[in-house]
Amino acid sequence: MSVESGSGSERAIDPDALRDMARKVFGAFGGAVTSAMIYLGDALGLYRAMAGGEPVTSAELADRTGLSERWLREWIQQQGAAGVLEYRGDDRFALTAEGEAVLADESHPAFGAGFFSHFPQTMAVAERLPEAFQSGLGLPYDVFGAEGAAGIERGFAPWFRSLLVPMALPRVDGVVARLEAGLEVADVGCGTGVAMIEMGRAFPKSTFHGYELSRHAIERGRANAAEAGLSNVAFHHVDEEPLPDDGRFGFVTTFDCLHDMTDPAGAVAGIRRAIADDGCWLVADIKCHASYEENVAQNPMAAMMYGTSVMTCMSSALSEEGGAGLGTLGLHPGLLEQMAREAGFREVESLELDHPVNAFYVVRP
Ligand SMILES: C[S@@+](CC[C@H](N)C(=O)[O-])C[C@H]1O[C@@H](n2cnc3c(N)ncnc32)[C@H](O)[C@@H]1O
Repeated sequence: MSVESGSGSERAIDPDALRDMARKVFGAFGGAVTSAMIYLGDALGLYRAMAGGEPVTSAELADRTGLSERWLREWIQQQGAAGVLEYRGDDRFALTAEGEAVLADESHPAFGAGFFSHFPQTMAVAERLPEAFQSGLGLPYDVFGAEGAAGIERGFAPWFRSLLVPMALPRVDGVVARLEAGLEVADVGCGTGVAMIEMGRAFPKSTFHGYELSRHAIERGRANAAEAGLSNVAFHHVDEEPLPDDGRFGFVTTFDCLHDMTDPAGAVAGIRRAIADDGCWLVADIKCHASYEENVAQNPMAAMMYGTSVMTCMSSALSEEGGAGLGTLGLHPGLLEQMAREAGFREVESLELDHPVNAFYVVRP
């Protein structure tokens, strides 16, 4: 049996496929709502209050946090229904060990709740996007405010803090010895400087210069460096103090930012001018492929990433007239290699690091 569509279309509707489509669409709404609940769980310290794994009732959680039991009851039931918390019977819910790693333990490399800390600001931008679809012009990262910069920091920091210095840098031939001896380093698109702060602490004889477009990120980065007591970390706004073109840097890094830039090819050319002939450039960017088909087949998070692109990455990359607009899944290995060679780099080598979303490359003049 077929049910006619209400839009005047002649196409027949299969009731089973209709149910599946409605489930898919409302499943997506469920994901957004669960994300809002994860944001609250993180912001209110609820996951941290459940660390250790002891199953709790909403009343016990209220005792631990001083929050309203009725609100916590609804939240905890939602989290149980969504499978984020485990229901153990008798109105008790528990955070599993894995849940604790992802949601409560900020020092764990798998900690992911940080990505939810600017969820409200990210979603609020949707109101401004119909205009972008008309004009073609996107919005830079600063539209997400100071919370946006702080959220990106919390999202990316666990990897930088636990793996950049001990695991990733030793894999880049020769760089650790040169950093120990003292090197001028640039981190382009440095955000709030978490990577520079980790490296600045580990290599006190080296000097780290961050180049960033976001004023919120720079302000927070300077405060972060001051709090860490580091005098070998400095921040520069790219419009006022662009990357120098005198080949002074022995090491350059770009972490998850080339695909966000309006002129990534120009940035790569700028990095070539800034880097010493015996220097090297470590690139981290989102793992992706040249075709839509490969991205969808090989990346289980493709839908989330294409959406993130509309909300943030591609929007940033289109935030100036003529922007390249690569977007989240836009910087595939072939394109990076092409841009690097056109800028005068001669070696582009893939670096295999176990990372859930990033691909790494070592690029040399
Ligand atoms: C996803 S964030 C990554 C920040 C940082 N590298 C990290 O891993 O935490 C991308 C950053 O690129 C910055 N960005 C975009 N265009 C830029 C440009 N032309 N020059 C410097 N930074 C830029 C944005 O402001 C944003 O802070």
